[in-house]
Amino acid sequence: MPTVRADITLTVNGSLRRLTVDTRTSLLDLLREDLGLTGAKKGCDHGQCGACTVLLDGRRANACLALAVANDGADVVTVEGLADGERLSPVQEAFLEKDAYQCGYCTPGQLCSATGVLREAAHGWPSAATGDVAAEPELDDDEIRERMSGNLCRCGAYVNIVAAVREAAR
Ligand code: FES
Ligand code: FES
Repeated sequence: MPTVRADITLTVNGSLRRLTVDTRTSLLDLLREDLGLTGAKKGCDHGQCGACTVLLDGRRANACLALAVANDGADVVTVEGLADGERLSPVQEAFLEKDAYQCGYCTPGQLCSATGVLREAAHGWPSAATGDVAAEPELDDDEIRERMSGNLCRCGAYVNIVAAVREAAR
């Protein structure tokens, strides 16, 4: 099958990027291979582990499942874009403080996902663990586990990850 290429524009971590991509390229491969942003990890490449999680137009997304060409014009934030210069984001600070990682392979995805979780809760979006969907969701441990359930950690650092998200939510 002949290669089809397309011109797209993305805002990546605040910078406008004009790119020509193979239309079969995933957003994850574009970030890692073309832009050198290797924070988002390729764990499964099948949407099952969350290691590739980025913020796509402000919402959590598995970059391995997103075609780059389908996201022309999108705003993408990767783990490299969470900090404000030298100042870590509250979620990054909380992961450090709570020792919420071991090997660190899943951590970029966990950090982006947790950042999305805080936004979703702030917007009042319920999860499957929310008892009263009309009330402001409170990020207790059950809510955090449910909302972070798409991010697997082979090291099993879940207890400290939940503690870190709880801390950041404060
Ligand atoms: S690499 Fe995307 S979900 Fe596993
Ligand atoms: S810290 Fe090793 S996979 Fe999560």
